[in-house]
Amino acid sequence: MLIIRSAAELETQISRELANGRSIGFVPTMGALHAGHISLVDRAVAENDLCVVSVFVNPTQFNNPDDLATYPRDEESDFKLLAKAGADIVFAPTVEEVYPAGLENRERHEFALGAAAEVMEGKHRPGHFQGVAEVVSRLFALVRPTRAYFGEKDFQQIAVIRNMVKSEGINVDIVACPIKRADDGLALSSRNALLTPEQRRIAPEIHRTLRESLRYMETHSLEETRDWVCRTIDAIAGLRTEYYEIVDARTLQPVTNWAESPWIVGCITVYCGKVRLIDNIAYKKPN
Ligand code: PAJ
Repeated sequence: MLIIRSAAELETQISRELANGRSIGFVPTMGALHAGHISLVDRAVAENDLCVVSVFVNPTQFNNPDDLATYPRDEESDFKLLAKAGADIVFAPTVEEVYPAGLENRERHEFALGAAAEVMEGKHRPGHFQGVAEVVSRLFALVRPTRAYFGEKDFQQIAVIRNMVKSEGINVDIVACPIKRADDGLALSSRNALLTPEQRRIAPEIHRTLRESLRYMETHSLEETRDWVCRTIDAIAGLRTEYYEIVDARTLQPVTNWAESPWIVGCITVYCGKVRLIDNIAYKKPN
């Protein structure tokens, strides 16, 4: 496994691989890797000639400086896991390498991300998706992937990336991968490392409540179901719902009744102490 720090070196390597006609599977990450990330890497390894993984905590997508400062980092463990999974190239650049003009002086381009970027995470984390689009488009330009792999844990992010790829005219297949969970149901997340043992004990209630809402929705309206989920989670000491939105899975816009769309997903963000956890569940999915 090749560990590359510089954008120029990455471009040279990629040019060589493309000249040899190899397909490239790309998994962008912010490190502190867990089995969720590795499930994406496994898939990229299986479906492509070459698997490239980036490990870069992107400052421009953090709207909260505390969140950026406390974001877990463990490069040594990341590289071990990636080597074991069979990644070929790890791109682990510095901030200067990704933003050569500097964070303050960099040229800013307003990405057209559509209505999907305006709701939920877009509303609660101003600038977040512009920052995600900025770094992912820069990484796509360097890696020139055939396919790029994203997890459905960040359900809205996938829709926003699809819009970005379309509006920027980037030729890449966006592959959505299912959520990996701990045995108790908690969606794996780098931020789980920040939970105290007591918080880690109550955090699975998020997924448990969402699952239970699959039964509740059979006899209740969409609005009742949404309110029930918020009420149930907020009744647990230590958990506080930031939002729960039940949306059309393609547009990410709220729906008002169960018949409105063939694919309906509930997206939640919950504060467990100061740690912000996200999850989602499908209420309806086309076959
Ligand atoms: P990060 O949070 O590190 O996640 C990297 C990828 O792993 C994302 O596509 C995310 O959805 C996926 N992932 C995380 N937890 C998962 C789980 N439990 N099951 C399946 N997939 C999971 O998302 C980002 O980084 C950044 O925004 C990034 C796209 C790298 C841009 O900076």
